[in-house]
Amino acid sequence: MNNVHHHHTHYFPKGFLWGTATSAHQVEGSNYNNDWWQAEEQSKIKFKSGKACDHYHNFKEDFEFIEKMNNNAHRLSVEWSRIEPREGEWNLHELEHYRKVLKDLKKRKIKIMLTLHHFTNPIWFAKKGGFEKFGNVRYFLKYVRIVTQHLGEYVDYWITINEPGVYIYQSYEIGVWPPFKKSMYLALKVYLNLVKAHKRAYKIIHHEVKAKNEFALVGISQNVLSFATYRKHSLINNIAVWLSVTVSNHGFYILTGKQKTHDFLGLNYYFRIRLTRTIGTAKFEIDDISTQERETSDIGWEIYPHGMFDVLMDFRDYKLPIFITENGIATTNDDKRMRFIVAHLNEIYHAIKGGSNVMGYFHWSLLDNYEWHLGFAPRFGLVEVNFKTFTRKLKGSGKIYSEIAKTNGLEHKMFRLLGHEAKIGK
Ligand code: BGC
Repeated sequence: MNNVHHHHTHYFPKGFLWGTATSAHQVEGSNYNNDWWQAEEQSKIKFKSGKACDHYHNFKEDFEFIEKMNNNAHRLSVEWSRIEPREGEWNLHELEHYRKVLKDLKKRKIKIMLTLHHFTNPIWFAKKGGFEKFGNVRYFLKYVRIVTQHLGEYVDYWITINEPGVYIYQSYEIGVWPPFKKSMYLALKVYLNLVKAHKRAYKIIHHEVKAKNEFALVGISQNVLSFATYRKHSLINNIAVWLSVTVSNHGFYILTGKQKTHDFLGLNYYFRIRLTRTIGTAKFEIDDISTQERETSDIGWEIYPHGMFDVLMDFRDYKLPIFITENGIATTNDDKRMRFIVAHLNEIYHAIKGGSNVMGYFHWSLLDNYEWHLGFAPRFGLVEVNFKTFTRKLKGSGKIYSEIAKTNGLEHKMFRLLGHEAKIGK
């Protein structure tokens, strides 16, 4: 029997990327040329993003925290509506701004993962029907080309589209995000157009960087859930789980030809979903776990670290490098965040030992920020932001993360944090 002594440090592979992630609209502030801003102004969205974290002006201060946390990577997005506020009008001033931002990260020896589409669209593009129309994909591709030409030299990893499945679900299935539509037909159409957009963007990025003798690794950020059923003996329940995993976790990869248009897998893992069904009906629902008195985040997501292991072992078969491009928790209880981080990283560690090729972890998020239609209440940051004064402060969880990154692993003392309300050093 393999009798591993578990008191040793759980080291991660050499060169592992330790990072955090943000997106433009959630942190920059004043993105008034996109569809989200418009919806916020029209009160279709309850909370306004306003200045958000004013990261646009404070990026240097924010990047200092990245250094303080001994991180060697960062994921961020560029805002299309800043770069192309009106159709065909390229704002060189904003491109220059992003050049400064990326240069600053490079100066600090931080590897850059750049997202091109993170839920927001320029107003002019949304007006034309956004990704609902196949013909509109070319507008996105023009923007991709311009960004690659102007900023390509700084980027190590490209994310063409963030969470295509979440985007269509929120915007076209349940209709709580712009353009607030509820149509399975449109959802499917947009999804297929995003498939085309990714496939072509993949080619464009590779083509552009090759022309400059540079190098690019391109992928997406895919939201992955750990699906489960209570009724393991029931065939139909197992079919429902299989279907959900296949469509929701793997669907976009299957449609985009897997390795053909993905140089790596960018996975965002947050929680588990348990499917349940009233016997005698065919309709499956997500089980409401609120009565079970389980530990959840402030927005009700079940904390289930083992799900991280499950999805990583599932995605092993792609034989591609894997990055956790998002993982985090909305909580005002920072002890909970510490536990969350240690527990999830430990599952990643075991998945790596089990043969999953994980090469980096990006915690969501660097900063407390604008959590879309939920506003500023959910606190996802390792750095606390005061939204009145815009002052920042590293949280205890940020300090823990910095120790982990420095060690390139989990020292045994970290596991003490898994006990309730435990603080390191106590
Ligand atoms: C998104 C982020 C979001 C986070 C937490 C992900 O679905 O990419 O923009 O803030 O989850 O909800």
